[in-house]
Amino acid sequence: MTAAPSPAKAVRARTTDIPDFDGLAHLYRWMEYATFGPWLWRCRCAFLTELNERRHALILGDGDGRFTARLLAANSVLCVDAVDVSSSMLRMLAAHAGAEVGRVHAYCADARHWQTASLSYDLIATHFFLDCLTGVEVRNLAERLRGSLAPGALWAISEFAVPQNWYGRHVAKPIVSALYAAFGLLTGLKMRTLPDHAAALRDTGFVLKKRKVWLRGLLISELWLYDRPAKDHP
Ligand SMILES: C[S@@+](CC[C@H](N)C(=O)[O-])C[C@H]1O[C@@H](n2cnc3c(N)ncnc32)[C@H](O)[C@@H]1O
Repeated sequence: MTAAPSPAKAVRARTTDIPDFDGLAHLYRWMEYATFGPWLWRCRCAFLTELNERRHALILGDGDGRFTARLLAANSVLCVDAVDVSSSMLRMLAAHAGAEVGRVHAYCADARHWQTASLSYDLIATHFFLDCLTGVEVRNLAERLRGSLAPGALWAISEFAVPQNWYGRHVAKPIVSALYAAFGLLTGLKMRTLPDHAAALRDTGFVLKKRKVWLRGLLISELWLYDRPAKDHP
């Protein structure tokens, strides 16, 4: 794995809105299993078989890198640019990538402002990352990233969700609020509500191709397609 110099600590010192996941890097997987068992993992891997043809992935906020490792194992020609603001998480990501680490370029940076390293990503993956951003930030991110995508690029997303029904109001919403409160305490995350990532992606030219829901809609897996207008193709 090649890593750019880490500006994360300096960035954090200047801004107050970047969560600090460093202290959770080693615990994260166990916290996940203790709370949601296998469900978050199922959510991340929902469309893994559809990603076999991909060549260059941009993975934002993958944390300890278990998804990156699984993706590299499933696709032997894929190269990954991984961006995370936590240097501890990126070290875990490198460890999980194991022998495939040579196909990973890691960037310790705030994804909201990171200058993309390629103009030909055919896959973006964000699992439980967009919920660290506001709706406006998701929109700005999507707008910026679409200029760095190959035609037909896919965006794989896992997120929590609050369905518009009794279960959503009385079960999903309190769970999501409790998670935000816990991560607020543990990492300084400022967000307290889920961004409307679907509206942000739709408005910036992405089309929802596939969607799966888990735990009655508390968790969602989505696959979005960006089809650049023909006139934009080189
Ligand atoms: C909730 S964890 C999700 C980790 C993993 N993707 C998963 O599926 O569980 C959020 C991750 O995004 C990273 N992160 C949060 N805000 C970020 C930002 N603005 N730029 C880059 N990484 C960020 C955190 O360091 C952390 O590793």
